[in-house]
Amino acid sequence: MPPAKAVARAFPARETVEGAGVRLHRAFGYDHLPLFDPFLMLDDFRAEDPADYLAGFPWHPHRGIETVNYMLDGRVEHRDSLGHSGSVEAGGVQWMTAGSGIIHQEMPKPVDGRMGGFQLWVNLPRSHKMIDPRYQEVPGNEIPIISPQRGVRIRVISGTIGEVTGPVQDIVGFPEFLDVTLGPDVPFSHEVRAEHTAAAYVIGGSGNFDLRQDRELPNLTMVLFGQEGRWVHIIAGNRGARFLYFSGKPLKDPVAWRGPIVMNTKEEIREAFEEYRKGTFLRKR
Ligand code: FE2
Repeated sequence: MPPAKAVARAFPARETVEGAGVRLHRAFGYDHLPLFDPFLMLDDFRAEDPADYLAGFPWHPHRGIETVNYMLDGRVEHRDSLGHSGSVEAGGVQWMTAGSGIIHQEMPKPVDGRMGGFQLWVNLPRSHKMIDPRYQEVPGNEIPIISPQRGVRIRVISGTIGEVTGPVQDIVGFPEFLDVTLGPDVPFSHEVRAEHTAAAYVIGGSGNFDLRQDRELPNLTMVLFGQEGRWVHIIAGNRGARFLYFSGKPLKDPVAWRGPIVMNTKEEIREAFEEYRKGTFLRKR
Protein backbone atom coordinates (compact mmCIF):
# COMPACT_ATOMS: atom_id res chain seq x y z
CA MET A 1 0.00 0.00 0.00
CA PRO A 2 1.50 3.41 -0.95
CA PRO A 3 2.36 5.73 1.96
CA ALA A 4 -0.77 7.28 3.42
CA LYS A 5 -1.57 10.75 4.55
CA ALA A 6 -2.19 11.10 8.26
CA VAL A 7 -5.25 12.91 9.59
CA ALA A 8 -3.98 16.36 10.62
CA ARG A 9 -7.25 17.47 12.22
CA ALA A 10 -10.62 15.86 12.91
CA PHE A 11 -13.39 17.74 14.68
CA PRO A 12 -17.18 17.87 14.83
CA ALA A 13 -19.21 20.44 12.88
CA ARG A 14 -20.62 23.19 15.09
CA GLU A 15 -24.18 24.49 15.23
CA THR A 16 -24.55 28.04 14.00
CA VAL A 17 -27.16 30.46 12.66
CA GLU A 18 -26.83 32.10 9.24
CA GLY A 19 -28.90 34.03 6.68
CA ALA A 20 -32.30 35.12 8.00
CA GLY A 21 -32.12 32.61 10.87
CA VAL A 22 -31.15 29.29 9.30
CA ARG A 23 -29.85 26.80 11.86
CA LEU A 24 -27.10 24.72 10.36
CA HIS A 25 -23.86 22.92 11.12
CA ARG A 26 -20.63 24.61 10.10
CA ALA A 27 -18.00 21.97 9.39
CA PHE A 28 -15.24 24.57 9.11
CA GLY A 29 -14.98 28.28 8.41
CA TYR A 30 -13.34 31.56 9.32
CA ASP A 31 -11.91 30.23 12.58
CA HIS A 32 -9.90 27.62 10.65
CA LEU A 33 -8.12 29.94 8.20
CA PRO A 34 -5.86 29.08 6.44
CA LEU A 35 -5.93 25.33 7.19
CA PHE A 36 -8.24 24.34 4.33
CA ASP A 37 -6.82 26.76 1.70
CA PRO A 38 -8.19 27.08 -1.06
CA PHE A 39 -11.45 26.14 0.71
CA LEU A 40 -12.93 28.70 3.07
CA MET A 41 -16.04 27.17 4.56
CA LEU A 42 -18.37 24.18 4.52
CA ASP A 43 -21.93 24.44 5.82
CA ASP A 44 -24.19 21.43 6.35
CA PHE A 45 -27.85 22.41 6.25
CA ARG A 46 -29.43 18.98 6.60
CA ALA A 47 -32.45 19.52 8.86
CA GLU A 48 -35.58 17.72 10.01
CA ASP A 49 -37.47 20.78 11.22
CA PRO A 50 -38.61 23.31 8.55
CA ALA A 51 -38.30 26.07 11.18
CA ASP A 52 -34.53 25.52 10.99
CA TYR A 53 -34.25 26.56 7.33
CA LEU A 54 -37.38 28.17 5.85
CA ALA A 55 -36.16 31.73 6.55
CA GLY A 56 -33.48 31.04 3.94
CA PHE A 57 -30.80 33.38 2.66
CA PRO A 58 -32.48 36.57 1.34
CA TRP A 59 -30.70 38.95 -1.06
CA HIS A 60 -26.98 39.17 -0.36
CA PRO A 61 -23.84 39.86 -2.41
CA HIS A 62 -20.78 37.70 -3.07
CA ARG A 63 -17.42 38.67 -4.51
CA GLY A 64 -14.05 36.96 -4.80
CA ILE A 65 -15.21 33.37 -4.21
CA GLU A 66 -17.12 30.40 -5.59
CA THR A 67 -20.06 28.91 -3.70
CA VAL A 68 -21.02 25.30 -4.33
CA ASN A 69 -24.48 24.03 -3.38
CA TYR A 70 -24.80 20.24 -3.33
CA MET A 71 -28.25 18.95 -2.46
CA LEU A 72 -29.22 15.58 -0.98
CA ASP A 73 -32.90 16.28 -0.27
CA GLY A 74 -35.40 19.00 -1.06
CA ARG A 75 -34.29 21.93 -3.19
CA VAL A 76 -32.79 25.39 -3.06
CA GLU A 77 -34.59 27.98 -5.16
CA HIS A 78 -32.37 30.82 -6.28
CA ARG A 79 -32.63 34.10 -8.10
CA ASP A 80 -29.92 36.62 -8.90
CA SER A 81 -28.90 40.02 -10.16
CA LEU A 82 -28.10 38.66 -13.64
CA GLY A 83 -31.73 37.65 -14.09
CA HIS A 84 -30.84 34.02 -13.56
CA SER A 85 -33.27 31.90 -11.54
CA GLY A 86 -33.91 28.24 -10.96
CA SER A 87 -33.58 25.55 -8.38
CA VAL A 88 -30.98 23.02 -7.35
CA GLU A 89 -32.82 19.74 -6.82
CA ALA A 90 -31.90 16.69 -4.75
CA GLY A 91 -28.72 15.11 -6.12
CA GLY A 92 -27.81 18.20 -8.12
CA VAL A 93 -25.02 20.71 -7.80
CA GLN A 94 -24.68 24.41 -8.48
CA TRP A 95 -21.11 25.68 -8.76
CA MET A 96 -21.36 29.46 -8.74
CA THR A 97 -18.34 31.58 -9.52
CA ALA A 98 -19.19 34.95 -7.99
CA GLY A 99 -16.02 36.59 -9.35
CA SER A 100 -16.46 40.38 -9.55
CA GLY A 101 -19.87 40.16 -7.97
CA ILE A 102 -23.30 38.69 -7.86
CA ILE A 103 -26.32 39.53 -5.70
CA HIS A 104 -28.61 36.61 -5.08
CA GLN A 105 -31.04 34.90 -2.77
CA GLU A 106 -31.13 31.20 -1.90
CA MET A 107 -34.29 29.74 -0.37
CA PRO A 108 -34.33 26.11 0.84
CA LYS A 109 -37.61 24.26 0.24
CA PRO A 110 -38.55 20.80 1.49
CA VAL A 111 -39.67 18.03 -0.87
CA ASP A 112 -41.75 15.27 0.75
CA GLY A 113 -40.92 16.86 4.09
CA ARG A 114 -37.18 16.54 3.59
CA MET A 115 -34.50 19.15 3.02
CA GLY A 116 -30.77 18.91 3.20
CA GLY A 117 -27.56 19.83 1.49
CA PHE A 118 -24.19 21.45 1.74
CA GLN A 119 -22.56 24.70 0.74
CA LEU A 120 -18.82 24.77 0.15
CA TRP A 121 -16.95 28.05 -0.39
CA VAL A 122 -13.88 27.95 -2.63
CA ASN A 123 -11.54 30.92 -2.65
CA LEU A 124 -10.47 32.49 -5.95
CA PRO A 125 -6.82 33.38 -6.52
CA ARG A 126 -5.94 37.08 -6.49
CA SER A 127 -5.63 37.03 -10.31
CA HIS A 128 -9.22 35.70 -10.69
CA LYS A 129 -11.17 37.48 -7.97
CA MET A 130 -12.72 39.94 -10.42
CA ILE A 131 -13.54 37.55 -13.30
CA ASP A 132 -17.05 37.59 -14.74
CA PRO A 133 -19.59 35.67 -12.65
CA ARG A 134 -20.85 32.36 -14.01
CA TYR A 135 -22.72 29.20 -13.06
CA GLN A 136 -22.34 25.52 -13.67
CA GLU A 137 -25.56 23.77 -12.77
CA VAL A 138 -25.82 20.02 -13.06
CA PRO A 139 -28.90 17.97 -12.20
CA GLY A 140 -28.39 14.79 -10.21
CA ASN A 141 -28.98 12.45 -13.14
CA GLU A 142 -26.03 14.01 -15.02
CA ILE A 143 -23.51 13.39 -12.25
CA PRO A 144 -21.73 10.11 -13.06
CA ILE A 145 -21.76 7.35 -10.46
CA ILE A 146 -18.86 4.93 -10.59
CA SER A 147 -18.04 1.81 -8.68
CA PRO A 148 -14.29 1.20 -9.04
CA GLN A 149 -14.48 -1.75 -6.65
CA ARG A 150 -17.12 -3.78 -4.83
CA GLY A 151 -18.87 -1.82 -2.09
CA VAL A 152 -17.61 1.57 -3.34
CA ARG A 153 -19.92 4.08 -4.99
CA ILE A 154 -18.64 7.50 -6.02
CA ARG A 155 -20.59 10.41 -7.44
CA VAL A 156 -17.98 12.37 -9.39
CA ILE A 157 -19.02 16.03 -9.24
CA SER A 158 -15.66 17.53 -10.17
CA GLY A 159 -12.34 15.87 -10.92
CA THR A 160 -11.39 12.62 -12.61
CA ILE A 161 -11.50 9.07 -11.26
CA GLY A 162 -10.06 6.56 -13.72
CA GLU A 163 -11.73 7.34 -17.05
CA VAL A 164 -14.59 9.34 -15.59
CA THR A 165 -14.51 13.12 -15.33
CA GLY A 166 -17.17 14.96 -13.35
CA PRO A 167 -19.43 17.48 -15.13
CA VAL A 168 -18.21 20.56 -13.21
CA GLN A 169 -15.13 21.57 -15.19
CA ASP A 170 -12.77 24.46 -16.01
CA ILE A 171 -12.66 25.61 -12.41
CA VAL A 172 -9.57 27.59 -11.44
CA GLY A 173 -7.21 25.29 -9.51
CA PHE A 174 -8.85 22.03 -10.72
CA PRO A 175 -10.49 21.04 -7.44
CA GLU A 176 -11.92 17.58 -6.87
CA PHE A 177 -15.32 17.12 -5.29
CA LEU A 178 -16.64 13.59 -4.72
CA ASP A 179 -19.53 12.06 -2.79
CA VAL A 180 -18.26 8.65 -1.66
CA THR A 181 -20.37 5.82 -0.19
CA LEU A 182 -18.70 2.70 1.23
CA GLY A 183 -20.39 -0.53 2.31
CA PRO A 184 -19.73 -1.99 5.77
CA ASP A 185 -16.00 -2.46 6.45
CA VAL A 186 -15.10 -1.60 2.84
CA PRO A 187 -11.67 0.01 2.26
CA PHE A 188 -11.15 2.92 -0.12
CA SER A 189 -7.91 4.44 -1.41
CA HIS A 190 -7.53 7.61 -3.43
CA GLU A 191 -4.47 9.42 -4.75
CA VAL A 192 -4.47 13.10 -3.85
CA ARG A 193 -3.20 15.48 -6.51
CA ALA A 194 0.30 16.81 -5.87
CA GLU A 195 0.36 19.72 -3.42
CA HIS A 196 -3.41 19.70 -2.98
CA THR A 197 -5.16 20.23 0.34
CA ALA A 198 -7.37 17.16 0.89
CA ALA A 199 -10.34 16.92 3.25
CA ALA A 200 -13.38 14.77 3.93
CA TYR A 201 -16.64 15.48 5.72
CA VAL A 202 -18.52 12.49 7.10
CA ILE A 203 -22.23 12.58 6.22
CA GLY A 204 -23.28 9.05 7.14
CA GLY A 205 -22.12 5.96 9.01
CA SER A 206 -18.56 6.13 10.25
CA GLY A 207 -15.05 5.39 9.08
CA ASN A 208 -11.41 5.21 9.97
CA PHE A 209 -9.58 7.91 7.99
CA ASP A 210 -6.09 7.23 9.37
CA LEU A 211 -5.20 3.55 9.50
CA ARG A 212 -2.29 4.19 11.90
CA GLN A 213 -4.90 5.03 14.49
CA ASP A 214 -7.84 3.03 15.77
CA ARG A 215 -10.45 5.77 15.61
CA GLU A 216 -13.94 5.70 14.04
CA LEU A 217 -15.14 9.11 12.94
CA PRO A 218 -18.94 9.50 12.79
CA ASN A 219 -21.43 11.62 10.84
CA LEU A 220 -20.80 15.39 11.12
CA THR A 221 -17.01 15.01 11.50
CA MET A 222 -14.68 17.24 9.47
CA VAL A 223 -11.38 15.60 8.52
CA LEU A 224 -8.30 17.43 7.22
CA PHE A 225 -5.53 15.25 5.83
CA GLY A 226 -1.86 16.17 6.42
CA GLN A 227 0.46 17.38 3.69
CA GLU A 228 2.87 14.42 3.77
CA GLY A 229 2.12 11.44 1.51
CA ARG A 230 -0.02 11.26 -1.60
CA TRP A 231 -2.75 8.73 -0.74
CA VAL A 232 -5.72 8.66 1.55
CA HIS A 233 -6.71 5.24 2.87
CA ILE A 234 -10.08 4.89 4.52
CA ILE A 235 -12.02 1.93 5.94
CA ALA A 236 -15.75 2.17 6.54
CA GLY A 237 -17.20 1.15 9.89
CA ASN A 238 -19.54 -1.82 10.26
CA ARG A 239 -22.55 0.25 9.14
CA GLY A 240 -20.75 1.67 6.10
CA ALA A 241 -19.67 5.26 5.55
CA ARG A 242 -20.58 8.18 3.37
CA PHE A 243 -18.45 11.29 3.05
CA LEU A 244 -17.80 14.29 0.84
CA TYR A 245 -14.20 14.35 -0.35
CA PHE A 246 -12.64 17.48 -1.75
CA SER A 247 -9.18 18.65 -2.67
CA GLY A 248 -7.70 21.80 -4.17
CA LYS A 249 -4.42 23.58 -4.66
CA PRO A 250 -3.68 26.09 -1.87
CA LEU A 251 -3.60 29.72 -3.04
CA LYS A 252 -1.37 31.01 -0.21
CA ASP A 253 -2.82 34.51 -0.82
CA PRO A 254 -3.63 36.95 1.99
CA VAL A 255 -7.30 36.66 2.96
CA ALA A 256 -9.54 39.59 3.89
CA TRP A 257 -13.01 38.23 4.65
CA ARG A 258 -16.16 39.97 5.74
CA GLY A 259 -19.46 38.11 5.56
CA PRO A 260 -20.10 36.93 1.97
CA ILE A 261 -17.15 38.78 0.42
CA VAL A 262 -13.60 37.47 0.45
CA MET A 263 -10.78 39.55 -1.01
CA ASN A 264 -7.05 40.01 -0.35
CA THR A 265 -6.97 43.37 1.47
CA LYS A 266 -9.16 45.28 3.93
CA GLU A 267 -9.28 48.13 1.41
CA GLU A 268 -10.86 45.81 -1.21
CA ILE A 269 -13.46 44.74 1.36
CA ARG A 270 -14.22 48.36 2.25
CA GLU A 271 -14.61 49.19 -1.48
CA ALA A 272 -16.90 46.23 -2.05
CA PHE A 273 -19.29 47.20 0.77
CA GLU A 274 -19.16 50.86 -0.30
CA GLU A 275 -20.10 49.84 -3.88
CA TYR A 276 -22.89 47.64 -2.56
CA ARG A 277 -24.32 50.59 -0.61
CA LYS A 278 -24.04 52.93 -3.60
CA GLY A 279 -25.51 50.43 -6.07
CA THR A 280 -22.32 50.14 -8.17
CA PHE A 281 -21.34 46.68 -6.92
CA LEU A 282 -22.18 44.76 -10.10
CA ARG A 283 -19.67 44.86 -12.97
CA LYS A 284 -21.82 42.68 -15.20
CA ARG A 285 -25.57 43.20 -15.50
FE1 FE2 B 1 -25.05 33.12 -1.29
